[in-house]
Amino acid sequence: MYRSHTCGELRIADVNKEVTLSGWVQTVRKFGSITFVDLRDRYGITQLLFSEVLNGELDASPLGREFVLQVKGRVNERSNKNPNLPTGDIEIAISEFTILNKSAVPPFSIQDDTDGGDELRMKYRFLDLRRNLVKKNLELRYAVGRSTRNYLHENNFMDIETPFLIKSTPEGARDFVVPSRMNAGQFYALPQSPQTFKQLLMVSGFDRYYQIVKCFRDEDLRADRQPEFTQIDCEMSFVEQEDILIMFEGLVKRIFKDVKNIDYTDVVERMTWEEAMWMFGNDKPDTRFEMKIGNLKFPQHAFPQQPSQASLIEGASFGVFDDAETVLAIAAPGCSEYTRKQTDELTDWVKRPQIGMKGLVYIKCNADGTYKSSVDKFYSPERLKAIADAANAKPGDLVLILAGAEEKTRKATSDLRMYLGERLGLRKADHFKLLWVLDFPLFEYAEDDNRWVARHHPFTSPKPDHIDIMINNNPVIENAAEYLAHPYAGIKANAYDMVLNGNEIGGGSIRIFQRALQEKMFAALGMDTAEQQHKFGFLLGAFEYGAPPHGGLAFGFDRLCAILGGSESIRDFIAFPKNNSGRDVMLDAPSTIDAKQFEELQIRLDLK
Ligand code: AMO
Repeated sequence: MYRSHTCGELRIADVNKEVTLSGWVQTVRKFGSITFVDLRDRYGITQLLFSEVLNGELDASPLGREFVLQVKGRVNERSNKNPNLPTGDIEIAISEFTILNKSAVPPFSIQDDTDGGDELRMKYRFLDLRRNLVKKNLELRYAVGRSTRNYLHENNFMDIETPFLIKSTPEGARDFVVPSRMNAGQFYALPQSPQTFKQLLMVSGFDRYYQIVKCFRDEDLRADRQPEFTQIDCEMSFVEQEDILIMFEGLVKRIFKDVKNIDYTDVVERMTWEEAMWMFGNDKPDTRFEMKIGNLKFPQHAFPQQPSQASLIEGASFGVFDDAETVLAIAAPGCSEYTRKQTDELTDWVKRPQIGMKGLVYIKCNADGTYKSSVDKFYSPERLKAIADAANAKPGDLVLILAGAEEKTRKATSDLRMYLGERLGLRKADHFKLLWVLDFPLFEYAEDDNRWVARHHPFTSPKPDHIDIMINNNPVIENAAEYLAHPYAGIKANAYDMVLNGNEIGGGSIRIFQRALQEKMFAALGMDTAEQQHKFGFLLGAFEYGAPPHGGLAFGFDRLCAILGGSESIRDFIAFPKNNSGRDVMLDAPSTIDAKQFEELQIRLDLK
């Protein structure tokens, strides 16, 4: 028997028990004739005491960091207790020890504040995973998965596996492809998601499906993206949007409870895509803090429902505002006393190439009710007050104003808002705020190809009262410059994203389930009948055999775990992640393959 207990288990009540432990040597400390060793396993650390009778043996077989050790001994009460360790009241007086395996000196220290850099820890990921912090992240991931499975099982969802070797139908990201030896010259693709399979399962009658499943996308990587990642993928039949929202708010609330012991009792806020863009300049706003945008000037076609406020800034001969398509303001709470240096810093920040604005106008809303701005020459105090009011500023706030082209200015204002939120401590990692964003546009205009692309994916249904607009209009865009005037530009999708603290953690839609509408959708995306048949004939065919109304969504499992763990980087929550260039530095993959493999696959590689 290798062990009677784990290294995290023994307490004062166990004093005098004879025990056997196995684990890794964390530290070895010699004090005169006695030696203390911290022994570590998955469950914790226990202090071992080697008295001087074992010195001869220790000299013959010295212990080093990360050696695998088995010890036998008696549990003693410690004279010098460690209140920071669950096992800190006891130690084991060792009578016998066996080195089960030696270890080379690890390339970095296996502790919370390690000296190992990112790449080194990725290369030795199996050692990094011994560190408490990383291990805790995987434990959290496991807990999220367990809670998910329990909830979905209790709600009649069935876990069904779908294939990984499928057909390439790029739309959105690029596919990873796999050559087929038995079908020379032909390729499988790895699924970007099980989307069409889960819809087919609805046609088969499995009315509640889920899968915690790997998805593969060959896209540029960021902190919240990996080329292979995991989704909690779900689909339901005979549902409307409301049924889905309620079911999956329930799932996230259950995860909060099970994993973080948080009772999320707030109503989950909902806003339309248009409202999110209007108020936050972003389709996944962080609603943990306010700082809503004051829309001083904007192109009417972008927000047809909103009244113009341009009179607030027009007629002052201030060219920067007069010449701009869009002028947006936000109020930074409590920042009216920022110094020149601080406002200059913010100006430099928005001028960075990533943000790309030309400058920043500010209005200080002083606590005494007066106003001081960088545009005092152009605007009277009354006008400054009106502008500040439009940005929801209170006395003591600093109003920051950006001007430029609509899309760029809105994104920059959103970025500035997030930056200030961070700087002002308004984005606390332990404060969780959920949000549904609804009513996305169904289509986006792809300028390069002069055609429509599906904003979510081509299986998403329009809002019920927009279906007729889709069916009764020709999708062809005659006049590219005026694509916004095309009836398709106004069609909203029956789709929803779940946002947590400014991150899109999930998204889905009610699906198209009639062949005619699905064909119309494919045609709108520029696919002729032959291409539709080639790529999606199986789905169109299935829709002819009694497809029920259905819808679903998928959560980004890695993202959800990262945010629950207080991080926005998903890598730390994946056991064996890829680096930023999509490489596994531990395996050194991707790599070349043998000439023989190429031959078998009948592939010739002509690399320059
Ligand atoms: P979507 O493409 O929005 O929807 O993906 C769902 C969720 O998956 C996460 N995600 C990612 N996480 C890590 N790395 C990536 N590269 C990555 N890409 C996406 C996001 C996202 O919200 N089939 C549809 C779902 C549906 O309609 O039911 C789909 O895949 O958190």
